[in-house]
Amino acid sequence: MIRAAVFREPGQPIAIEALSLAEPRAGEVRVRMTASGVCHSDLHVRDGDWPRPGPIAMGHEGAGVVEAVGPGVTALRVGQAVALSWLVACGSCRACARGLPWACSDSPSFGHAMPDGATVLTTAGSDPSPVLSYCGIGTMAEATVVPVAAAIPLPDGVDPAVAALIGCCVSTGVGAVLKTAVVPAGATVAVIGLGGVGLSCVMGAVLAEAGRIVAIDRVPAKLSTAGELGATDGLLAGDDRTATIEALRDLTDGGPDFVFEAIGRVPTVELAIESLPIGGTAVLVGMTPLASRASFAVFPFVDGSRRILGSNYGFADPAEDFPRYAQLQLDGRLPVDRLIDRRIALDDLEPAFDRLRAGDGLRQVIVFD
Ligand code: APR
Ligand code: ZN
Repeated sequence: MIRAAVFREPGQPIAIEALSLAEPRAGEVRVRMTASGVCHSDLHVRDGDWPRPGPIAMGHEGAGVVEAVGPGVTALRVGQAVALSWLVACGSCRACARGLPWACSDSPSFGHAMPDGATVLTTAGSDPSPVLSYCGIGTMAEATVVPVAAAIPLPDGVDPAVAALIGCCVSTGVGAVLKTAVVPAGATVAVIGLGGVGLSCVMGAVLAEAGRIVAIDRVPAKLSTAGELGATDGLLAGDDRTATIEALRDLTDGGPDFVFEAIGRVPTVELAIESLPIGGTAVLVGMTPLASRASFAVFPFVDGSRRILGSNYGFADPAEDFPRYAQLQLDGRLPVDRLIDRRIALDDLEPAFDRLRAGDGLRQVIVFD
């Protein structure tokens, strides 16, 4: 038996339940979890912004140690530290055939189960019923069984909480800057929303040697953290969108070359697009509620050769990118540890969601004994 955070109904508190976990089959490994980040995407599910079938073991930003391997598995060994990927590419769809695994249209992760549709978790008791694993990994649990391709070995010495964050917010934010936008040295960058994802965009912009990095949030404390990570300017966003745009234009000689929206709200998506100078690029990183639509003035957009890019998972190729980001952290060039301000127990998930909803604090990470 293992303990896991189980989502059943939108808007209801997530309960910690005891579940049975299957043995790994061919092509699968069992991972004893060491850490799981509390990401806003989990909150979207919990609050009902993204309809998901329940029951489902939550969590998609996790790290652990391989505890058992299925028959014939040689790519991973027991005892290896891994970060988990929430997107396992199918390998055969149009995007996969072109080498774009982050754009896979047929990932088994979308079904919150193994590639053959099997579930690895069941409820306890005399009448067991299946429980899904969020994105096929369900990291807010003491242990999980995942496809081999979801468990990415990391270099020795990476802090488990850091490894967990590499599994989602770091790859999403750093990759948006380095891989999706390919920000050139000297460019001006703005980042709207300074949670785990947005602060990772700031770290990515520092790595890209952006000339100016304007960090924007409605919570003043986030601006100081962004400054410590290398943002050159902080901008406190109020309700007056025009004032924010004007202040941003003043700081960036007419508008940022690249603006990253890392919240997933229509007003800030529109703010990002509207703030662009001629030739500027808005990179949409935050995930909105499912039904959201945004609008923008088309004529100046076309006339000024502006661009909008969507960036899923920071264009991550986990097998290649996770170890690379981990090594950058070990080398002191990607201070992921600075994103973590609270290490909590699995039982403290609901208060952690309350803090995340309120924008209070930085990344919270569940750590397992
Ligand atoms: N203006 C400015 N900042 C805002 C606003 C706003 N209107 N609304 C929220 N914010 C800030 C919050 O204060 C917080 O610092 O945006 C940040 C969002 O951070 P988190 O809630 O920690 O979210 P994170 O986990 O970083 O995810 C961001 O990316 O992957 C997606 O689903 C995820 O949509 C979410 C987004
Ligand atoms: Zn996430």
